[in-house]
Amino acid sequence: MSVRQLFVTTALPYANGHFHIGHIMEYIQADIWVRAQRMLGHQVYFVGADDAHGAPIMIAAEKVGKTPQQFVADIAKGRQPYLDGFHIAFDNWHSTDGPENHALAQEIFLELKAQGLITTKTIEQFFDPEKSMFLPDRFIKGECPKCGAQDQYGDSCENCGAVYSPTELKHPKSSLSGATPVLKTSEHYFFKLSDPKCLAFLQKWTQDGKLQSEVANKVREWLTPNEAGESGLGDWDISRDAPYFGIEIPGAPGKYFYVWLDAPIGYLASLKNYFDKGGPKSRGDTRSFEAYMKDEQVEQYHFIGKDITYFHTLFWPATLHFSNRKTPSNVFVHGFITVSGEKMSKSRGTGIDPLKYLSLGMNPEWMRYYIAAKLNSKVEDIDFNPEDFVARVNADLIGKFINIASRSAGFIAKRFEGQMGSLSPEGMALVQDLQQSVSLVAKSFEQREFGKVLRDIMLLADKVNEHVDAHKPWELAKHPEQAAHLHQVCSACIESFRLLSIYLKPVLPALVAEVETFLKVSPMDFSSASTLLGAGHLIGNYKHLMQRVDPSLMDKLFDLPASPDKTPTPPSSSSPATPTKETGLNPQAPGGTPIEGLIGIEDFSKVDLRIAKIIHCESVPGSTKLLRLELDVGEEKPRQVFSGIAAHYKPEDLVGQLTVMVANLAPRKMKFGVSEGMVLAASHEDEGTHPGVFILNPWPGALPGMRIR
Ligand code: 2FM
Ligand code: ZN
Repeated sequence: MSVRQLFVTTALPYANGHFHIGHIMEYIQADIWVRAQRMLGHQVYFVGADDAHGAPIMIAAEKVGKTPQQFVADIAKGRQPYLDGFHIAFDNWHSTDGPENHALAQEIFLELKAQGLITTKTIEQFFDPEKSMFLPDRFIKGECPKCGAQDQYGDSCENCGAVYSPTELKHPKSSLSGATPVLKTSEHYFFKLSDPKCLAFLQKWTQDGKLQSEVANKVREWLTPNEAGESGLGDWDISRDAPYFGIEIPGAPGKYFYVWLDAPIGYLASLKNYFDKGGPKSRGDTRSFEAYMKDEQVEQYHFIGKDITYFHTLFWPATLHFSNRKTPSNVFVHGFITVSGEKMSKSRGTGIDPLKYLSLGMNPEWMRYYIAAKLNSKVEDIDFNPEDFVARVNADLIGKFINIASRSAGFIAKRFEGQMGSLSPEGMALVQDLQQSVSLVAKSFEQREFGKVLRDIMLLADKVNEHVDAHKPWELAKHPEQAAHLHQVCSACIESFRLLSIYLKPVLPALVAEVETFLKVSPMDFSSASTLLGAGHLIGNYKHLMQRVDPSLMDKLFDLPASPDKTPTPPSSSSPATPTKETGLNPQAPGGTPIEGLIGIEDFSKVDLRIAKIIHCESVPGSTKLLRLELDVGEEKPRQVFSGIAAHYKPEDLVGQLTVMVANLAPRKMKFGVSEGMVLAASHEDEGTHPGVFILNPWPGALPGMRIR
């Protein structure tokens, strides 16, 4: 087998926020793939970086009184705990604002220019008349010109994936000031993607069979000429006017590269930084970065989310090809991660907080295992479901795999002084069956079929557990004359456990490192599956390798709000006339609580109350308190709201009713999903003596979306 040389990246995260679960999912996917390649003996350089540039970061920095450089440096400082915490082992982490990227982006631009692929055009661009600046694409929102989805950014549509220019948006608004932007002219630089040679190159590059079929199909749509016969690819606007945080365009004062030009170049910059720091050299590779990239044997792979396919399958390969560089061997596109069925949004940041997960003491390898179990090589969304998470970790990972060691290791230690014995013919057949699976396992890892590989490994674990159940070592241990038989059965278990550990190592690197210590073996790779420990090998003392997930941790992770599940507190007998600290109850006050202090109309107007129509309502499996409502508030999509009224209303009685909701309450993560608002209801503070919760219902004539003031 020849040693492959792989250059692997994940998408570079914008440096204006911490990692969310979507980032962690992508990094886990790539990290598993990288570890599996290394276990096959291949050489891998795995790098990432912060995507530092762009107007949004510049504006965010200004808001908090920092320079953009300080701002992104502060974000960068926070990266390591996430990466270390989830065992994501990048070889290098850099920034697109590093000197390597400035130099490479300028060099690449000049090469494209020399190819005749750069042009300038005077364009009309949106300008915010209140802020006196050209508006970055992300600060203009409106209706997608292709599919009509509302509330889309000025550069691309999250709904249909289209990429367009902000002036194509319908009903645009500046999100900096709320003003309707005006058009103003400016000279911009363009990459001439409409040039026939670009189109010819991309048609070939994207349709030669390497891309995932869903991706290739999508790209074909993008490349197909429209009815007027125009190519689907327009020239790409790659410049932005000062003020901008980015890389200056050589020979064009006041003009900067648009962030999406220099962001992927950041992949190369991070690798160059790694070479320049001597990383490859310390691993025996003495080549320069340039020599490495010129080597035709080197394969280049990018793991990305489906929302940035356009950039990575059209702009990026064209940029590389026409600047005379290696083009990606493939781009591996994954779907989004939803949490309890809720789409996570980059801006709203709902979902699971990865650091909170770690700070609760939850094992990072539970997460790696669960995410791997859900992933395949397709562009499908995956769902993090709390009940499913607990079940898979406890039933499969612990119940099937860890259990094999905990059922057998103690006997080897106590009865046989830690020494492995020989195997029975049946035990040997079992172990050989496991050994023969190595190529299947390695192939599934290579193909990114992680869900399949874990299913296959668990089927192997089932076979081992069947062997244990058939021979009942706990029974054999009661009969001294069965010692040899006990030794055989437990030895077959430990040999099997070692093989399964090899197969799970890309997913569970820290756990398997402990297994290696326990088994007293050097670090294992896939080739280690061709050998066995063998009779006479001494293993260490077994200590429990992994705990079960305590399901109550899931409530903590999802930050269950106190209100819907709170139990009414009985009135305090000691001082009935004054509200007690615990309950706020005052039986003499109207409704049980004194009226709150005065507020001005400006405070009241901050609460956006709307008429909402309950278009769907259902009980929530696993909760006796909550109902899940879907509310039409006149928006494009209904809102999902969880309300603690299950004890008072039947879902079918609510459907079709109008009610009142707080429409601008920040979305809250709950165990069962995200609640996007709150339904108003009246109740007495002392529900014990004044039972009932009464939701509000407007007079006839009110319509969904009407504001209550
Ligand atoms: O979508 C994003 O989060 C971008 N920052 C991804 C950039 S990937 C690469 F091109 F750098
Ligand atoms: Zn669209």
